[in-house]
Amino acid sequence: MQQVPFFLHDLGQPEIDAIAEVLAGPLLTTGETVARFERRFADYLGVKHALGVTSCTGALHMSLLALGLEPGDEVITTPMTFIATATAAIESGAKPVLVDIEPDTGLIDPNRVAAAITPQTRAIVPVHLYGQMCDMHALRALADRHNVAIVEDAAHCVEGQRDGVKPGQLGDTACFSFYATKNMTCGEGGAVVTNDATLQQRLKLLRLHGMTRNAADRMRDGYQHWDMTVLGWKYNMDNIQAAMLLPQMDRLDANAAKRKALAVRYDELLRDLSEVSTPRTIAGAQHARHLYPILVDARRRDGIIAHLQQQGIGVVVNYRAIHLLTYFCETFGFRRGDFPLAEKFGDRVLSLPFYPNMPLADCERVVEVLRDACREARPSTSLAAAK
Ligand SMILES: Cc1ncc(COP(=O)(O)O)c(C=O)c1O
Repeated sequence: MQQVPFFLHDLGQPEIDAIAEVLAGPLLTTGETVARFERRFADYLGVKHALGVTSCTGALHMSLLALGLEPGDEVITTPMTFIATATAAIESGAKPVLVDIEPDTGLIDPNRVAAAITPQTRAIVPVHLYGQMCDMHALRALADRHNVAIVEDAAHCVEGQRDGVKPGQLGDTACFSFYATKNMTCGEGGAVVTNDATLQQRLKLLRLHGMTRNAADRMRDGYQHWDMTVLGWKYNMDNIQAAMLLPQMDRLDANAAKRKALAVRYDELLRDLSEVSTPRTIAGAQHARHLYPILVDARRRDGIIAHLQQQGIGVVVNYRAIHLLTYFCETFGFRRGDFPLAEKFGDRVLSLPFYPNMPLADCERVVEVLRDACREARPSTSLAAAK
């Protein structure tokens, strides 16, 4: 049986060499290699500042703290995302306010954001889901009108562009993930970018305990007393992580082009499979193509997943609407019916195998098995029983 994995990273000799160079040097923690990565990452995005951190979750958390959120403040985001988008808001002391999505793209609907703004709203966290950017011009205009901040969740979207802007160019900050299956990875890692020098200074303190000096400063200048000026966290990226990421910057656009070719192939192969549709690709925008999600009949989705997995095809669901997960129901009283468009999308979606070095021919195998799955999978009643 031909197996098709959901994801394989493309790390190799360039990363091994870069890590070896760090290991041969004196400083493993945050230092010159991180600074080099930060410069390259900021330049790629066309923003002034980037900071390497240990996760996108940490980047989101710190961004909201740096904006001065206080208990009782509200942060507007989407239920069609990974849980970290909302839990970062909760960890910063805020209340997550969810609004429904555009049904065809899965992205947060700016009109619903506008309707959800209250005097307590302090930030909007749009998610550039699957690699497609939200309508940042609309959201920026809205945020400016109401004097609220924007923290972009760009975990899926290093290489995206829309209406002339990239992630980080219109947000107060943008947060990126270098988790194991992301377009760039160092196992676990992330970055936060901003054009605001004051925010950058705050974020730099927050990522390392609120300390005014770090180990690299000590190595360069000798020990000098340091101060702790704010309550910070331990979110600093280390030189080993940065060493893994730097060679990947060289391949970023080439890998995005490979994923685009795979998406085109899947699109062609799925054209005559009437049981399957895909989220709308926004015309004129540059899709970062982090994942290849499809939408199927909600009652048969789980059966299709089971069939694909039995035939050796890797699948993941990105995502079931987060407000239906137990913690969110119990803590915030959310129920099925609260965000019907996100629920429908989250009940229907599944992601097919997708990674830069996946052979184009594997798309054919995946779609062949998917065709059988659509024919054979029986409707399941598990969704009716869900909250
Ligand atoms: C949309 C989204 N936001 C945030 C995160 C959190 O990223 P990390 O694992 O780097 O904390 C993820 C990770 O999967 C994600 O997909």
